[in-house]
Amino acid sequence: MIDNIYPIYDQMMTRADKEELLCQHGLMVWFTGLSGSGKSTIAMGVERELHKQGILCRILDGDNIRAGINRNLGFSAEDRMENIRRIAEIGKLFVQTGIVTLACFVSPTNDVRCLARSIIGEADFKEVYVSTPLEECERRDVKGLYARARKGEVKNFTGISAPFEVPENPTLEIDTSLLSLEASVSKVVGMVLSFQNK
Ligand code: ADX
Repeated sequence: MIDNIYPIYDQMMTRADKEELLCQHGLMVWFTGLSGSGKSTIAMGVERELHKQGILCRILDGDNIRAGINRNLGFSAEDRMENIRRIAEIGKLFVQTGIVTLACFVSPTNDVRCLARSIIGEADFKEVYVSTPLEECERRDVKGLYARARKGEVKNFTGISAPFEVPENPTLEIDTSLLSLEASVSKVVGMVLSFQNK
């Protein structure tokens, strides 16, 4: 598939050059969890706090990415895999530019998360499992999708008619039905800072 393609890297400025310029280390914080579990809300709080501390971040979020580069993908297992593959490749570009990247995707199976980890690389990949229970996500139903999924109007809906496999060994686990937003944000910020020289 990659015949006749010759990537050139040796004359480009390196990741180390960029990290030195930014005075920070690139990192992928990969939030996984049910729709409505709080992934993006926590990520936005983390971005705001790290920005205040002089750390450049970038959020990649399911609804935004699926409205743009991944607008041709649905929610079959195959499409979710392609969704995550593209996001991981994009995320890797940010991480290699020295940016703290906050990826918020349901990423419901061990297979898709494993793919993301392998594309980004073990050393740069930190998994945050937002473990807010289904009952709480469904009670919030911010987008009204759970109600529609229960009526059968939205097919393959994660937690209702499509599986969510619990991550085996996340770096952090956060249940937003038990932990406040402020405490959730500071847990992730602390984890990110532990990988920076600040
Ligand atoms: S993933 O499974 O491929 O990782 P992704 O995070 O990109 O999913 O998109 C999930 C978002 O799409 C949800 O937050 C929800 O708003 C919306 N969505 C629409 N249909 C579905 C579905 N069938 N399953 C899960 N999320 C859906």
